[in-house]
Amino acid sequence: MNQTTPPQVVSADYGRIKMVTSFEELLSTPFEGNLNALCWKRTLPGDFGEVVANLGVGSGITTIEEDRLKELSLSNEGKLARNILLADQELLRTQELSPVLDCVNGYHHDLEARPVPTHVQSFHADSATVVADTYLCTYYGLSSEGVFNEEAIRRVDIPETRALLLEQYGGLDDDGFLEYLNDNYYDLHYVPLPEARPYSFGVGNLWRIAIEYPDCAVPPCIHRAPATLPGQNPRLLLIS
Ligand SMILES: [Fe+2]
Repeated sequence: MNQTTPPQVVSADYGRIKMVTSFEELLSTPFEGNLNALCWKRTLPGDFGEVVANLGVGSGITTIEEDRLKELSLSNEGKLARNILLADQELLRTQELSPVLDCVNGYHHDLEARPVPTHVQSFHADSATVVADTYLCTYYGLSSEGVFNEEAIRRVDIPETRALLLEQYGGLDDDGFLEYLNDNYYDLHYVPLPEARPYSFGVGNLWRIAIEYPDCAVPPCIHRAPATLPGQNPRLLLIS
């Protein structure tokens, strides 16, 4: 699997992705059947790179407050981008969501954590204890990636991994073990099957994806932050 240049959304998507043409449609389309990801495809005007350059963030993840955005001295193209960043957050807040704008300049985690990595660059499902979805938009830099449920397996279902986790737990494969997997987020992480075709969420598109919560009608959308390499541009993304 090529980790740096995943293909764009493929046509044979098992009915998991639906393209929508408005925010209203993004909100109102129910997840049912196989459908667990909605994409409002957008080509955004403005210079998001200028915004990122002006933010001048250090390494790691920096949450960008609105006041900080408003203080930036920008060209007209930069202002256009800033207006979109502010408007998108406002749009999500009208739905009683709590969007966060993050500038990501590399991650500080162990990519190869064993027995199960639980960081955002590992394919995973988001989860909540109540009904909720994740909203996601990458404005700049490499975009988030998805993999179809049919083309991935939970890491805890791989016999060797499960045996290691059981050893670490020091008990029996019973309800207590399942709780242990859940408490440590191990059961939310996936590995693509050899023939899997991970896809890119693309830049500028606003996605609404299904997450894991009790009695959710569909399986969660499996996704991850892209692999980062030294020298890459920071990413600018909205998460809610
Ligand atoms: Fe996530």
